[in-house]
Amino acid sequence: MSDKSPSPDERLQREFNRWADEGEGEKMERHHLDITEKTIRRMDLRPGERILDLGCGSGWATRLLARMVSEGPQGFGQVVGVDISDEMIRQARGASKDFENVMFVVGSSAQIPWEENFFDKVLSVESFYYYPDQKRALAELFRVMAPRGRLFILINLYKDNPYSLQWVPKLKVPVHVRSAAEYVELLKAHAFENVEYSQIPDDTPTPEGYKTTSFHSLDDLKAFKRIGALLLMASKPDLRNPAPGYTIY
Ligand SMILES: C[S@@+](CC[C@H](N)C(=O)[O-])C[C@H]1O[C@@H](n2cnc3c(N)ncnc32)[C@H](O)[C@@H]1O
Repeated sequence: MSDKSPSPDERLQREFNRWADEGEGEKMERHHLDITEKTIRRMDLRPGERILDLGCGSGWATRLLARMVSEGPQGFGQVVGVDISDEMIRQARGASKDFENVMFVVGSSAQIPWEENFFDKVLSVESFYYYPDQKRALAELFRVMAPRGRLFILINLYKDNPYSLQWVPKLKVPVHVRSAAEYVELLKAHAFENVEYSQIPDDTPTPEGYKTTSFHSLDDLKAFKRIGALLLMASKPDLRNPAPGYTIY
């Protein structure tokens, strides 16, 4: 018998492979579509851009992004989906055969399998609070983002939406629970600039009689959607041409 306990990344991979096997990858599209579309509108995507979808799951948002950056006067845009669950990545690849400009790679937020200074924009939907080492994830994001690249982190579980805290005991892996203000400080501490946040309500209707296992009641689910998700936005500074007052250490 092996006494080696799984690493945090191995635990995440096992748990999200289980989610994928149970069809959760597909279901998440329904739950996250409204807030993700609102976020994508803010990303101001242009044909030709290079985009990372970190924690892409079954890849539905990756494909939305791919349609928006595909071919245009600026050239051929590419989208890379990275996820720690090899089963999610297998499903994402299977559903994306018609796309020439997407690629899915198994990888961890602790070591994003890509070169530095590459991505113009990064989207991460409902994934960031699972990362065991969020500081390392931010350092990795900073590394792979292009100068002046833009980061968009969307999360539903955070202190300022108290209804979301009902999930914490139900989850089988540890999570971070921070406030919007704490996240802003974390991003600033990792040298991101133009750090701001916004709350994105989920306007999808909640049918009467809808069965929820994640919330104590339907009223709590409705209140959770009304308060909405946290969208964190930031830029990587252009270190070759820093803004006035920006200090390079
Ligand atoms: C709640 S799901 C969201 C998936 C997808 N973004 C969506 O909205 O459908 C969280 C995803 O993050 C991935 N994930 C969790 N921790 C990760 C890590 N440390 N590095 C990369 N991906 C991770 C999981 O495997 C899972 O697919």
